[in-house]
Amino acid sequence: MDFFTVRNGELYAEEVPVAVIAKEVGTPCYIYSRATLERHWHAFNTALGDTPHTICYAVKANSHIAVLNVLARLGSGFDIVSGGELARVIAAGGDPRKTIFSGVGKLPQEILAALKAQIGCFNVESEAELQLINDIAQQHHYIAPIALRVNPNVDAKTHPYISTGLKENKFGIDMSDVMRLYQYAATLPSIKIEGIACHIGSQLTSTQPFVDALAEILRIYDDLQQQGIPLEHIDLGGGLGVTYQQETPPSPEDYAKAIKHHLGDRKVNIVLEPGRAIAANAGILITQVLLLKHQPHKNFAVVDAGMNDLLRPALYEAWHQILPVKAHANPPEKVLYDIVGPVCETADFLGKERSLAIKAQDLLAIRSAGAYGFTMSSNYNTRARAAEVMVDKDYYQVIRPRETIENLFASERLLP
Ligand code: LLP
Repeated sequence: MDFFTVRNGELYAEEVPVAVIAKEVGTPCYIYSRATLERHWHAFNTALGDTPHTICYAVKANSHIAVLNVLARLGSGFDIVSGGELARVIAAGGDPRKTIFSGVGKLPQEILAALKAQIGCFNVESEAELQLINDIAQQHHYIAPIALRVNPNVDAKTHPYISTGLKENKFGIDMSDVMRLYQYAATLPSIKIEGIACHIGSQLTSTQPFVDALAEILRIYDDLQQQGIPLEHIDLGGGLGVTYQQETPPSPEDYAKAIKHHLGDRKVNIVLEPGRAIAANAGILITQVLLLKHQPHKNFAVVDAGMNDLLRPALYEAWHQILPVKAHANPPEKVLYDIVGPVCETADFLGKERSLAIKAQDLLAIRSAGAYGFTMSSNYNTRARAAEVMVDKDYYQVIRPRETIENLFASERLLP
């Protein structure tokens, strides 16, 4: 559930009419709802209840420092995949000791920065990386806390681009190699084994793949215990889906129930890395209709947001709900429109075949854009990135002004 509501035909973000924000800030513009972010985070935290746990919000979903700060104030941990994300967590007041560093290609300087910041755990994705982390830690007199990210070879049944737990994916360590690597890690002087991790994919809409992955993990957990390598935590990654259209993903509560059931009486800290489930429905993208273009075979609403602002439809053929910010008192006829941006690419669409009663200059809201929206945006076609706004009840604040054109190339240099 989120706090974007339609009242008398007009869209509100919490207590603020979206049209008021658009008028002041212009379009395209991302609007986030603090109450929604908090609600979603609490949903995970409450669902796990007395099972020892850490919710490590996946920063990549929405890395704005105001978003991270809202979650840090709740006591959230974080899941990061770069030194840049680590710097954001620190700038936002997040606790690096509650932060997990994931990713297949960590740079030496990123590893060192994480060690200096007292990172909670490195999720190690290969033998080479285990060695590298040990070497850097040894050289700089640190002990590096690690978990091995295993690849449990389960089908997340999601879009192939966001599926990560199959053996052909680049992520994680093959199951056949996991025991050997734990035994090896146990011999490394600057490594402390903390846990085991997996992340099988994103936008999962059933609990079964999670349960299958957990079963594989528990098998290793028990084996390691027997071999005298006890683990402090099990990190099940992120991946819980959201409703964009008609998906019915499990609630955090259902998911937590399944986890608890399979854990039995094992005393182990559960780490989750939700990104989308916290941020997606906490954000919308507001765009203005530039013009309506009626072709013999198609009607287009050309809007001022494009694939550079929200890449998901172009990259994954993702479906996002698109609705008018304000209904007309005398609405024009409903027409099937493709909602397209100004970018010079055929893939530059935000939605296809949407039945809308709209006119030029109308504002449209693209829903569920809080995760993987702004973070995947670019300056393609030398387009300034959108403004970002956060709403907190009846208060709102521009948390990132729209970029200016001059700044886009201010650091570019001509040859002499
Ligand atoms: N942990 C790890 C190690 C991950 O790789 C990811 C996402 C997450 C957690 C968070 O997953 P979530 O809870 O958000 O599903 N750009 C794509 C999604 C890519 C997800 C990549 N990894 C999209 O827009 O659908």
